[in-house]
Amino acid sequence: MPVATAVAHPNIALCKYWGKRDRTLNLPSVGSLSLTLAPFCTTTTVEWGAESDELVLNGRQGTPAESRKVFALLDLIDSWRPKVRVLSENDFPTAAGLASSSSGFAALALAATKAAGQPRSLEELSVLARRGSGSAARSLFGGWAEWKVGEREDGLDSHAFALAPENHWDVRMIVAIFDDGPKAVSSRDGMLHTQETSPFYPAWVASTPKDLTDARVAIRERDLTRLGIVMERSALRMHASMMAADPPVFYWKSGSVWAQETVRALRARGIPCAWTMDAGPNVKVLVETPYADEVARRLANVADRVHVLEPGGPARLLE
Ligand code: DP6
Repeated sequence: MPVATAVAHPNIALCKYWGKRDRTLNLPSVGSLSLTLAPFCTTTTVEWGAESDELVLNGRQGTPAESRKVFALLDLIDSWRPKVRVLSENDFPTAAGLASSSSGFAALALAATKAAGQPRSLEELSVLARRGSGSAARSLFGGWAEWKVGEREDGLDSHAFALAPENHWDVRMIVAIFDDGPKAVSSRDGMLHTQETSPFYPAWVASTPKDLTDARVAIRERDLTRLGIVMERSALRMHASMMAADPPVFYWKSGSVWAQETVRALRARGIPCAWTMDAGPNVKVLVETPYADEVARRLANVADRVHVLEPGGPARLLE
């Protein structure tokens, strides 16, 4: 029976994906840009040929909703596929403030195509992973990656590509955790509701191309001050669009604001750092490595916990 195992790291968007132009193909309304982060990773083993379709996630049976998404992705690889067993483990707590769906679907796409005997290019794998979860399109790549919005109706040009490898710039991403609970509203539901009801949504979409242009230059020049302006602008505009939805989608907690104030205070003292936030209250702070300990210490004063992460490599097969 063909078996393959793949490993992928999660990523955090610096220019955000929020909104879809096609729900079936999971095509985004905007381009996005991210940093892939180690050491956290998802390891996924796919057995192509089993007694029944089975998903085991972190040692428990997958829920019906989780299984539907996983097996729908396998159907895209081969609609005549045999029954398949999928075992997936995150080596980071689900409450670590990072999207396990980004690493999960990237590892699944890589392991499943290998087990099925259908190896694909990284771009093709990114298109496939995107169908499972948009942010997973970026986790196939190491370091700094951009996911193109694309123009084609079939979505084949909406994949990520590598902007710069993980050793391009010596930075750390510090994740400040304020809440371990499950999300009140999933990213998927939150973004669909925003695009259906927020008067600010069109302005959010229109603002994104400049963010991508500015972020690419800042990354190329390793200019954290410049990248920080873009990161915070992108996160604030995304959250503004959802706060203006009807009813609002509101992920912030008081701790989120304390962390943002901590970042501003550190910057005022000459430490270049910048924050971003996703579909939850946790705050992620990008900083150059020599300042990482100090920034982590300051954030630990306001957060429940902090994790210090570093740029990670691309998704890979284990032999
Ligand atoms: C706020 O990739 O989880 O983290 O495509 O519906 O699965 P689906 O959404 P998902 O959304 C991530 C949203 C975000 C921003 C980002 O990662 O770009």
